This record gives sequence, C-alpha cells and structure tokens, in this order.
Amino acid sequence: MSLQQEINKRRTFAIISHPDAGKTTLTEKLLYFGQIIRSTGTVKGKKTGKYAASDWMEIEKKRGISVTSSVMSFPYHEFHVNILDTPGHEDFSEDTYRTLTAVDSVVMIIDSTKGVEPQTIKLFKVCRMRGIPIFTFINKLDREGREPLELLSEIEEVLGIESYPMNWPVGSGKRFLGIYDRFNDQFVRFKGDEEEEVFPISEIANHGLADEPVYQDTLGEIELLEEAGNEFTTERVQKGELTPVFFGSALANFGVQTFFDTFLQFAAQPQPRKTDQGLVEPEKDQFSGYIFKIQANMNPAHRDRIAFFRVCSGKFERGMSVNLSRTNKTIKLNQTQAFMAKDRDTVDEAYPGDIIGIYDPNIYQIGDTLIEGKGQYHYEELPQFPPELFKRVQAKNVMKSKQFRKGIEQLVQEGAIQLFRQELNDSMILGAVGQLQFEVFEYRMKAEYNVDIEFTSLGERIPRWIKSEKFEKRFFDSRSMLVRDRFGAYAVLFENEFTLRYFLENQKEIELVDLLEEN
Ligand code: G4P
Repeated sequence: MSLQQEINKRRTFAIISHPDAGKTTLTEKLLYFGQIIRSTGTVKGKKTGKYAASDWMEIEKKRGISVTSSVMSFPYHEFHVNILDTPGHEDFSEDTYRTLTAVDSVVMIIDSTKGVEPQTIKLFKVCRMRGIPIFTFINKLDREGREPLELLSEIEEVLGIESYPMNWPVGSGKRFLGIYDRFNDQFVRFKGDEEEEVFPISEIANHGLADEPVYQDTLGEIELLEEAGNEFTTERVQKGELTPVFFGSALANFGVQTFFDTFLQFAAQPQPRKTDQGLVEPEKDQFSGYIFKIQANMNPAHRDRIAFFRVCSGKFERGMSVNLSRTNKTIKLNQTQAFMAKDRDTVDEAYPGDIIGIYDPNIYQIGDTLIEGKGQYHYEELPQFPPELFKRVQAKNVMKSKQFRKGIEQLVQEGAIQLFRQELNDSMILGAVGQLQFEVFEYRMKAEYNVDIEFTSLGERIPRWIKSEKFEKRFFDSRSMLVRDRFGAYAVLFENEFTLRYFLENQKEIELVDLLEEN
C-alpha cells in the first residue's frame, strides 16, 4: 500500500468529556467494534471497585498501569483507528492537554442529563484554539435528560461553536423510542438490550410510530431545525467551526455504531503540522514527527521511560536513524513500541497519524522533533497551559539544595510541572493543572534526585501574564501575587475571580493576558 493510501485511511482522535459522562463506556464499545475486546457491557464503575472483565482491562492489570489505554490502535472497516486517551479525574495533567496537539479530530461526550460541564469546557477550548474538528456525542438518552434543543443551545452559547444535529432523539428515559436519523434518512428504533431496528423514514407509518405523541413532537422540532438550523458543510466541520451532533446511549449501545461510522467518514485524516520552516505535509517522504508526552516509570520494576511520538510525515521503519533536532545527534530507533496492535509489542512500521512509543534512556524532552537523516526543522513548540494549582516548594534539608535545584530544573524543562518565582522574596512556586503532577514531581525528586521536598499549598489561583512593559510593583500583594515564569516573564497569581476583577477595574494601565487564548 502506498504512503498516500496509508494516510488516507488513518483517523487519529481523542475523546474528551467531563468525568462520568461515559468516556470509558463509549471507548469500550468502539474497541468492541474494532474486535479488540470480545464482549462489552462489563465495565463496572469505579464506585463498585470492580473492573471490567474485558481483555482490555486484563492487559492493563498485567502492566499495572493504564499504559495500553493511552493509545488504542486498531483496524476498522477501511480505516486504521488511533484513539488517544485524555486522562481525567485525578490524572488530569498538562499531558491531557498536550495529547490534544497530537490528534486530528476530537469526540466530545456530553451527558444529556447534565449538559456542558467544566472539564469539557477546558478541553474544548484547547481544541478550538487549534482548529481541531469536533464531533459531539450526547450520551445517556436512556435516562430522563434535558430537552435536546436546550442542550444544543447550551453547546452553542457556552462553547461558542455552531452545531448540526445528525440525528434527533424521539423521547428520552422511559419514553425513549429511538432516533430520527436526519443524515441517513432512516429511523433507528430503540429496543433495549443492545438491540435496534432500522427502517427508512418513509416506512414510519408501518411501524406504528406515526401516532406516538413524542414522535409528533419530534417532527415539529425537526421542521424547526430544517428551517432555522445551521447548514452542514464538510469544510466547516473540518475547520472546527461546526460540530456534528449525535444522540445515543453508550451503555445501551444505542446509536453508537452509526455515530462511529459517520464520524470516521468526516473525521480528518492526518493533517499537516507546523514547523519553524512552514507546514510539513504528511505525504512528504522524509519521516518526521515529535514527542508530545513522556511517561516515566511505566513499569515499576524498571526505571524506563517511554516517549510518545506522533508520526507527522513519511514512513517509520524500525531501526532507522533519525536526527534529534534539538541536539543535532543521530539516534537509531530500535526499541519502539506499538500500542494495542494485535499480537505484537514491537512496531516495525508506522505512518502519519500513528503514535509510537520510543524507549527513552533520558535523552528526550517533550516537544522534541525527530527527522530521518539530516533534518533541519523543528515542529512548533507545544503550547504552555495556564496552571490552576500552586504550591510553594523547598527542600526539607538545606544541605541538598544543589540536587534540589538540579531536579527542579530538569523536571521543569521536561514539562512535568511549571516553575514560578515570587518577585518579593524569590521563593519557588510550582504550578500544575492537576494534583497528580505534584505527586509525580515529589516522587521523582525523591527517586531520581534523592531529595525530600516540602510543599506549602497556595490553593487554586488564576494566573495572568503582564503584557505592559512598565508597571509599578507596589500594586501587588499576597492576593494578587507578582511572580516571574521560568522565561522571566511577569505574571500575577490572583486568589480568585473577585481579586482579578478588582485588579482589572483599578489598574487599567496594566495589560493582562490569559496565556491560553494568546497562544
Ligand atoms: P467516564 O469514563 O466518562 O468517567 O464515564 P464512564 O464510562 O465510567 O461512565 C460513568 C457512569 O455512567 C457509569 O456508571 C456508566 O455505567 C454510566 N453510563 C455511561 N453511559 C451511559 C448511558 O448511555 N446510559 C446510562 N444510563 N448510563 C451510562 P457508574 O455509576 O459509574 O457505574 P455503575 O454503578 O452504573 O456500574
């Protein structure tokens, strides 16, 4: 198969959602369609403490940590699917955001009983900023949810993206009859027990649906959508300006396969990526890509690290020599790992859109570019994300300050955590987007640098960067703390929305920017 054909069939995406919206359940269904697991419906929530009896979870258990689910890769119909996990809950970290730089499309799950929730908004913003196509799956239709029209307008208003419902639910909860598939002109009847019946809209009358009051309501709503709704164009979907919306139930396996099939049809194939020398097309013969995440200590028995590498152009072949742009060193890529490819652990070849795991003997950094032969460009730097949690940090034992500084410097450079210095007293403050980052930091400082550290929490803070060149330092205090980031740029850590607003109203001459929007 030619490079072009390999590219055309690849679909690399992430599923984003607020915890409990149904990401695990939906992912499990997709793995089932891809024949990665043999049965579904076995995922039991974390509340019961029981894990899935599926092969997928078995693999995870054996490896001791959710390594395999970081990237799930499998063939499906004419496609090659790569699903990248975006850890939520306690595992939420900058890696969750960075993973979004390595995908070409995103599936956003919304719980129909809850609507748009905070973590979804955060992840959505990153996708929007990068112009990634977003597909929406509104889940849990088997429960009494909110009105579909209300959910759509919430998506449009809160997230600021236009929507196009590909199908429309007829009733919900106990009165859930099925979905009116506008896109394929058919009706999918909900029969429970993972069963559905499909027939053309023209045959509705033969199936006793025409007289159902909820069906009559639906017809009214669909008419409204036809007249006042947005227009569907593939181009706007691919630019991330319009999100196709699907209704269904992951748990009941209802509407999931139609969603998946239609999604794969419209989801973007591997896209060109920006470098300091312009765009690099995936079709370019020279193999290249970049590291978007480094996972340390994946196997507690070894101290090895795996670098997650997104192939951006050309064909990867095991054993090939590549140039690490940052250091201009040549490296032979022998120890590479595929994720969830059947029957093998080592990856021999990979194509644009694929993610490979590269054994890292401590030489890589997040954002590193690797190019076949003599490469001369760098993929664009991964954006920094505004941290939300802050802690002051110091070594327990002052005698260890040398190792302490070295450890911090290296871990910060690697992208494990962000470092700030308080202007007033030069003390060190760490910033993270998730609690886990502090725990990993503490653990690695001990394990790798033999330093015990001490945190003092500053709690949640809202960081803003100062754009103005000149300003007076006397305006700042502990509630609006003046700090410098690791590049020396001034920022302010506000205690809460109130102090931020107060500052904005009273210090109009100081211009502040939110890093996320600026990037
Ligand atoms: P997450 O990965 O996004 O956190 O969500 P997960 O799939 O674990 O689902 C969260 C809960 O929502 C689970 O229940 C799951 O069974 C349920 N769920 C997922 N999809 C649907 C759906 O389409 N309909 C309904 N009714 N429920 C759904 P749990 O309470 O954590 O587990 P359990 O106690 O129900 O087993």
